[in-house]
Amino acid sequence: MVLSLSINGDRLTSIADPAMPLVDVLREEFHLTGAKPVCREGFCGACMVLVDGRPAPSCLMPVALAQGCDIRTVEGLAINGTLNPIQQALEASDAVQCGMCFPGMVVTLTHLLTTTPGATRDDIRAALTGNICRCTGYERIVEATLLALAAR
Ligand code: FES
Ligand code: FES
Repeated sequence: MVLSLSINGDRLTSIADPAMPLVDVLREEFHLTGAKPVCREGFCGACMVLVDGRPAPSCLMPVALAQGCDIRTVEGLAINGTLNPIQQALEASDAVQCGMCFPGMVVTLTHLLTTTPGATRDDIRAALTGNICRCTGYERIVEATLLALAAR
């Protein structure tokens, strides 16, 4: 069975098992390794992608269900080859430590900046409840997000 997918604006075909998690297809077939399969249970957020504009854990999504959806991975979030505002703010704030959680963080925070331009510190923390970071304590991530919001 050939699956037809829209990933980062490209029409791609996959010959994966339709039940295979989207995160594995992204990584193994398309070499988009930003999304990380860490918990594989939907609670860590390391595998987050945008599905029709909303953050979703790609470890829980069989690739067959991704057909007909607009899938955006962290690799597709730059704007015309330039890091998007949250990517720039995270880099400028030196917010990244080991980096394992960051592709998922960027996906979630890109969505937040797009949908909630007036987000408060509490809104940012609430948005990140599905993204676990074991290194940073979150404070620099929150500060970077506030910077990105203020720059808009
Ligand atoms: S690997 Fe998908 S939420 Fe943790
Ligand atoms: S920077 Fe290491 S888990 Fe977040």
